[in-house]
Amino acid sequence: MLGMIWAQAHHRVIGRAGDLPWHLPEDMRHFRESTAGHPVLMGRKQWESLPERFRPLPGRRNIVLTRDPSYPAPGAEVVTSMEQALALVEGEEAWICGGGEIYTAAMAHADRLLVTEIDLDVEGDTYAPVIGPEWHAAPRPWQTARTGTQFRILDYRRRA
Ligand SMILES: NC(=O)c1ccc[n+]([C@@H]2O[C@H](COP(=O)([O-])OP(=O)(O)OC[C@H]3O[C@@H](n4cnc5c(N)ncnc54)[C@H](OP(=O)(O)O)[C@@H]3O)[C@@H](O)[C@H]2O)c1
Repeated sequence: MLGMIWAQAHHRVIGRAGDLPWHLPEDMRHFRESTAGHPVLMGRKQWESLPERFRPLPGRRNIVLTRDPSYPAPGAEVVTSMEQALALVEGEEAWICGGGEIYTAAMAHADRLLVTEIDLDVEGDTYAPVIGPEWHAAPRPWQTARTGTQFRILDYRRRA
């Protein structure tokens, strides 16, 4: 099972200036719980956006994609293509965790999309891929975060 997990605001915004344009602890917990114990695959920019004390993401095999084979990512495995990344996790539950370039590159390979929709209008420079009609998610209720922000988590599967 190859899943992709992301959070998006209105208009599919997922990032700004190398960071998340919101602070939503509930979603960070959801990310931690969903990926715990499973390999996580991420782009070099997403890796660099993690605060040093949080990388590698603990309790998970961290795999970083870059086209630079000598890129140093202590605590992670470095791969130079999507094919190589997917080969490392074949037959396992694994999660693509961004950023925008990597979601787009991996979309065709994914079986599941775990998408947090955040009811916020924010400026961004990085976007989630469009979720086409080949995907289906059951409706889920909106929740209110401690900050007052509304969000809901949709679990998309590929239609048979
Ligand atoms: N809201 C969310 O859920 C969420 C989740 C994750 C990230 N984000 C946000 O997304 C932004 C980062 O995303 P991004 O699109 O700028 O960058 P990214 O996808 O994290 O990383 C892009 C880099 O990955 C490498 N790469 C891409 N495709 C590759 C391939 N096929 N083979 C090998 N390497 C490949 C390249 O590294 P080299 O340049 O080193 O070759 C490329 O520059 C940040 O703002 C972050 O906060 C948001």
